[in-house]
Amino acid sequence: MSFLSVQGLSLNIQGQSILKNISLDVSEGEIIGLIGPNGSGKTTFFNVLSGFLSPSSGVIRLRKNDITRMSATNRARVGIGRVFQNFGIFRDMTLSENVLVALESLPKERRSVIGDLRKAVLSTLTMVGLQDHADKKASSLSGGQMRLLEIARTLISGKDLFLLDEPTAGVSPKMTGQIASLILELKKKGKTVLIVEHDLPFIRKICDRVIVLDVGEVVLQGSPEEVHGNRKLKELYFGADPTE
Ligand SMILES: Nc1ncnc2c1ncn2[C@@H]1O[C@H](COP(=O)(O)OP(=O)(O)O)[C@@H](O)[C@H]1O
Ligand SMILES: [Mg+2]
Repeated sequence: MSFLSVQGLSLNIQGQSILKNISLDVSEGEIIGLIGPNGSGKTTFFNVLSGFLSPSSGVIRLRKNDITRMSATNRARVGIGRVFQNFGIFRDMTLSENVLVALESLPKERRSVIGDLRKAVLSTLTMVGLQDHADKKASSLSGGQMRLLEIARTLISGKDLFLLDEPTAGVSPKMTGQIASLILELKKKGKTVLIVEHDLPFIRKICDRVIVLDVGEVVLQGSPEEVHGNRKLKELYFGADPTE
């Protein structure tokens, strides 16, 4: 059964066609990579999925429920988690305090299942390998560590669809590996992940399926190997092959 289903999604802004007839079915627990040249509409697609932009046509369903016209706030409530870069992290607070704030701002019904808050804070930080930094200020973290903290905060808020826009941008190779591990952990927990990413080896390593966008249109999709070996991808990124 399809967990997330997108059918015929289009977006026009001021007469300009930004997204064109995008259809996509995602199963629960799948990791989907979304790639394509700059300006191909990847971030805009995330904006439409998370409810910040309303599509001109098409339908979005989450667990069979039509969410096409649902507000961004309500989409967050039904489990769509957009991970922003360092958004919502309080730099002057410690990591523990940052996690605590996220836990305390959960709706009552979720908070009650968490139990001991101190334990929950530590287990959250342990999950992303930041437990040794619990008492440090968030401002002391590297960009990649902040990204991990942000993913953890999204995870404890009970989201089950993660939208990650360029999670490895500006991050060290070591941290990129840790982010990849964390995403694979999310999959093990049954979470579904959509990732926009320029780092193609990263995408090949962790994704079940890859979708290629070009000027707002899905031009290619398949397994990482199929997409990687496709001539169209090379044309998109490097221009047409002059020998053919
Ligand atoms: N609010 C907007 N108004 C007008 N054009 C927009 C808006 N948002 C995005 N675009 C245009 O949509 C296209 C896709 O942008 P974007 O989704 O940011 O691409 P990507 O994330 O793939 O680099 C670009 O041509 C961009 O200029
Ligand atoms: Mg973008």
